[in-house]
Amino acid sequence: MRTILVTGGAGFIGANFVRMLIERGEDVKLVVLDKLTYAGNLGNINDLLASQPERLVFVKGDICDGDVVQAMFDDHGCREVVHFAAESHVDRSILSSSPFIQTNVVGTQVLLDVAKSKNAERFVHVSTDEVYGSLPEDKPEIKFAEETPMAPNSPYSASKAASDCLVRAYFHTFHMPVMMTRCSNNYGPYQFPEKALPLFITNLMQGMKIPLYGDGLNIRDWLYVEDHCQAIWTVLNKGKAGEVYNIGGNNEMTNRAIVDTILREMGSNWDDGVQYVKDRPGHDRRYAIDAGKIKRELGWEPRHRFHTAIKKTIQWYKDHQDWWRAIKNGEYLKYYQTQYAGR
Ligand SMILES: NC(=O)c1ccc[n+]([C@@H]2O[C@H](COP(=O)([O-])OP(=O)(O)OC[C@H]3O[C@@H](n4cnc5c(N)ncnc54)[C@H](O)[C@@H]3O)[C@@H](O)[C@H]2O)c1
Repeated sequence: MRTILVTGGAGFIGANFVRMLIERGEDVKLVVLDKLTYAGNLGNINDLLASQPERLVFVKGDICDGDVVQAMFDDHGCREVVHFAAESHVDRSILSSSPFIQTNVVGTQVLLDVAKSKNAERFVHVSTDEVYGSLPEDKPEIKFAEETPMAPNSPYSASKAASDCLVRAYFHTFHMPVMMTRCSNNYGPYQFPEKALPLFITNLMQGMKIPLYGDGLNIRDWLYVEDHCQAIWTVLNKGKAGEVYNIGGNNEMTNRAIVDTILREMGSNWDDGVQYVKDRPGHDRRYAIDAGKIKRELGWEPRHRFHTAIKKTIQWYKDHQDWWRAIKNGEYLKYYQTQYAGR
């Protein structure tokens, strides 16, 4: 049985990754290291921690703490790493960037150093297409390829780009078996409701409006989280050390088109359901991913189509109201009011 350290495994994508591997019976023991920041939620994996204690272990701790990370290898026997832990919300990085530098840059460096000293066998660093910056809207043929130079535009994407540079350097300098993935916008179950899709869906369920930035014409590629998790698993198993793999949903849409779909699916309309708000500063206009390399070299491609996966996603939030209603109070409300005040 392989023992894998999963950082940030109580967050959105990390929890989906853990659930996928445990539920389908992969021959793995997963050790989740998570600080449980506002975005971490043990409720995302609690049922599996209780039912599969020999295959899933949780440790509350900070990736910036070298002793804690070292114990993952010495005490829990981890030999491979999948690194999800991060401060992940662009809007929060605009309010304050220092936690982003601390976790995303310093935390990644600590993790790399410990993994190097313990001769970790595989290390997948989960990054983002946002490191590439923004694409022109009038040239749909241009997409982000792995060779596209990094040009991050937000404190969040700058911190992820810095962590990518460290990962690259540890391959070139120390020949560490590291791989990097850069994916587009994820959606699906267990996503913290400050992010666009769960925010839109749960606001409508609460009789509130969808806050739509600027003219709503920003374009993103949308990737169903289950497809993303399968891609990461593929890279962990078959990826080549030192390589970057772009992961996309093959599904470019404007924010207006996304909102339109959600309104329709939830029986609402533009007048009742949408409020235009002042645009995010430095808002990237278009992201689009060329995911040809991972298809050609590792045989992965997305299996979910947006129009069916969004229905499943909406249904999940309808069926799990306790989960998101518990989050959308207290600290979250304070953040929401700061974020959208006067917009
Ligand atoms: N969500 C997306 O659409 C998306 C897109 C591209 C890339 N990514 C990347 O995927 C990864 C996971 O994203 P997510 O959406 O699941 O994020 P998330 O914010 O939902 O979860 C992050 C998790 O990391 C934990 N964490 C934060 N700081 C930590 C620290 N110092 N030590 C230990 N744990 C810590 C949090 O408690 C949380 O459980 C991130 O690296 C992010 O940059 C996400």
